Amino acid sequence: MSEKVYPVPQDWKTRAHADAAKYNADYTRSIDDPDGFWGDVGKRLDWIEPFTKVRNASFAPGNVSIKWYEDGALNVSANCVDRHLEKRGDQTAILWEGDDPKDSKAITYRELHKHVCRFANALKERGVEKGDRVTIYLPMIPEAAYAMLACARIGAVHSIVFGGFSPDSLAGRIEDCASTCVITADEGLRGGRKIPLKANTDAAIDKVGGVKTVFVVTRTGADVPMKEGRDVRYEDAVKNAAAECEPEAMNAEDPLFILYTSGSTGKPKGVLHTTGGYLVYASYTHELIFDYHEGDVYWCTADVGWVTGHSYIVYGPLANGAITLMFEGVPNYPSSSRFWEVVDKHGVNIFYTAPTAIRALMGGGEEAVKKTSRASLRLLGSVGEPINPEAWEWYYRVVGNGRCPIVDTWWQTETGGILITPLPGATDLKPGSATTPFFGVEPELVDAEGKVLGGAAEGNLVIAQSWPGQMRTIFGDHKRFEETYFSAYPNKYFTGDGCRRDADGYYWITGRVDDVINVSGHRMGTAEVESSLVAHEKVAEAAVVGYPHDIKGQGIYAYVTLNAGVEGTDELRKELVAWVRKDIGPIASPDLIQFAPGLPKTRSGKIMRRILRKIAEDEFGALGDTSTLADPGVVDDLIDHRQNRK
Ligand code: WT7
Repeated sequence: MSEKVYPVPQDWKTRAHADAAKYNADYTRSIDDPDGFWGDVGKRLDWIEPFTKVRNASFAPGNVSIKWYEDGALNVSANCVDRHLEKRGDQTAILWEGDDPKDSKAITYRELHKHVCRFANALKERGVEKGDRVTIYLPMIPEAAYAMLACARIGAVHSIVFGGFSPDSLAGRIEDCASTCVITADEGLRGGRKIPLKANTDAAIDKVGGVKTVFVVTRTGADVPMKEGRDVRYEDAVKNAAAECEPEAMNAEDPLFILYTSGSTGKPKGVLHTTGGYLVYASYTHELIFDYHEGDVYWCTADVGWVTGHSYIVYGPLANGAITLMFEGVPNYPSSSRFWEVVDKHGVNIFYTAPTAIRALMGGGEEAVKKTSRASLRLLGSVGEPINPEAWEWYYRVVGNGRCPIVDTWWQTETGGILITPLPGATDLKPGSATTPFFGVEPELVDAEGKVLGGAAEGNLVIAQSWPGQMRTIFGDHKRFEETYFSAYPNKYFTGDGCRRDADGYYWITGRVDDVINVSGHRMGTAEVESSLVAHEKVAEAAVVGYPHDIKGQGIYAYVTLNAGVEGTDELRKELVAWVRKDIGPIASPDLIQFAPGLPKTRSGKIMRRILRKIAEDEFGALGDTSTLADPGVVDDLIDHRQNRK
C-alpha cells in the first residue's frame, strides 16, 4: 500500500469549514457530548415543530431501536425547496445534462417548487396518501428529483429501483413494499442506447398485484401502450394540477424512503431511512466534506437509483441550497472526454465519482482529459469501493492537475451518509485510505471473537454508537435487521467490511468480509446470482465468488455444475450470462463461468468458498487447509479448468 502523504494545502486550511484543530475539537465534542453536538447541528434545518430530544438509540440485542430528534416535525421537500425561495428562488437548483451533449437545462429553485407541488398534487389526485409506498423507476432526468420530493412533500415513502434492474427485480421490489403507484418513463437513454422502462414496468406489474397507478414521463417519445384506468401521462397529470401544495408535517422518525440492497443471503433488503436524522446528516456531511459554499457547482455522477444519488445528488445538496448537476449519460459517450467536457461546460467546482469510472477513463489515456481545461475544479471525491493508489494518483495528477484534494468517502446504503472521510481543510491525504471518521462516528476494529483491537490493527469494521443518518430497520423485517447488523458483535453496528487502521489512526477499507461482492461500486449478493443460475433448467448447482477485475474492481466468477448429460459449451456460457442479465439485470452478469463437475465441499456438504475464491483469483498455490474436504480430488479439476489465468 502506498504510504505517500499529501498535506492539506495552505489555502485550504482557511477556506474550508474546518482545519485540523477545529476538526479535532469538534470531533471530541461530538463523541463526548453527542446530544449537544447533534442538537446544534439539527438546527440547520427548518422544523415545523422543533425537537427537544436529540438521540435515543439502543443497539442492545433483541431491542435495537434508533431514534433521532423524535419529537420534532419537519418536511423534507420544504427544507430542500421552499426555504430557499426567498433568498435564491432564481438560482439554479438542478443543472441537467442529457445523454446527448446538445441536451441540457437549468431548473431554478422557484421552478423546482412548482414542479414538486404539481407532482405532489397529481399523486394525491390518484389517491396516494401519507405512508403509501411509491416505486420510482426512472432514468436520470429532473422528473426523478421532482418525484422524490413530491413523495416527501405528501409523506409518501419512495422506493427507487435502478433503471438497470430487470422486470423481475422490479417486481420483487414492488411486491416487498406493496407499492400502489409506480413512476416510470417511456424509455431511458444512456450512451445512445434506449432502455425500455415502460415495457419493463408492464412486465413487472403482470407478475404482482396491487399497483393502481403508473405515471409515465415522456423521455424519448416512444410509442408505449397505456393501460386504461391505470396508466397516466405525467405531462397530462401535472398540467392541470395546482402549483401550490402544503407540505405535510412529518414526524422526524416517519419513513422517507426505502432502498433495496443486496445482502449475503436471501432477497434484497429494503433499507429504511427516516426523515429528520437522515436529512440533518445528508446536508451536514455534504456541506463539510465537499466544502460546499454558496454558488458552487457541484456534480455527483451517481444514479439516483443508488444511495449516493439520494444523499448526494438530491437530498443533501438541495437541503443546502446548492447547484446540483444531474447527468443522464455515461463517462465514455460520445467520447471518453465527456466528464471533463461537462465540467468545462458548466464550470463544475466539486466533482464526485467512483473508482471504476476513473479506472475506465485511465484506460482511455491522458490526452482525452488534457484536451479539456478543468480549471473550475477545486475538489474531487471518490466513493463505492477502495480506490487503488494508482487510480488515486491519476485522478489527482491528471484530472485535478495536482491542485485538488480528493475526499475518499467510505459509507453504505445503510449509513445514509458518509462516515469515514477526509475533511479537505483538515485531513492530510494518503492515497487509498478513507482516512478518519466524520463527526459523531465511532469506528472500531474487532477480531472474530468481538475483541476490540487498539492502535494499528486489522479486523472487522464496526460502529460503536448511532449517528443521525443510520438506517432504522429493514422494511417489514426488524428481526432480519437485528440479525444482519447487530448479532455478530452485540451492541455494535457491523458494517460487513474488513479494515486496517494504521499508526496514524487512518482507516484503510480492505473490502467485504461477507458473501457480497462489489462490482463497479455496486453491491451484489453472491446468493442472488447463484439462485438465478440454478433456476436455469440445465444447471444443477452454482457457486459465485468475486475476483479482481481491472475496471470493475471485482468481477463475478461463477462455478456451475450442469445436470447430467448436459455439455458445457461456450454457447451455454453465453446463454447463462443472458439468463442472469434478464433475471436480475446487467449488473449481475457473470464475467467468467467455469463448468465444474463437482464443487469443493466439507463432509457436511458446505461449499468451501475460500478455495473457490483462491482459484478464481488464480492464487491456487495458497489454498490452505483442504483436509476437511469430502473429495479433495475436485480441487485439481477446478484448477485445471480455471478461467482466470493472469
Ligand atoms: C460498500 C457499500 C455508499 C456508496 C456506494 C456504495 C464499499 C463504499 C467505499 C470507499 C472503500 C467503499 C464498502 C461498503 N465502499 N465506499 N470509499 N472505500 N470501500 O454503497 O452499495 O451500500 O455498498 O461499498 O465495501 O460496505 P453500497
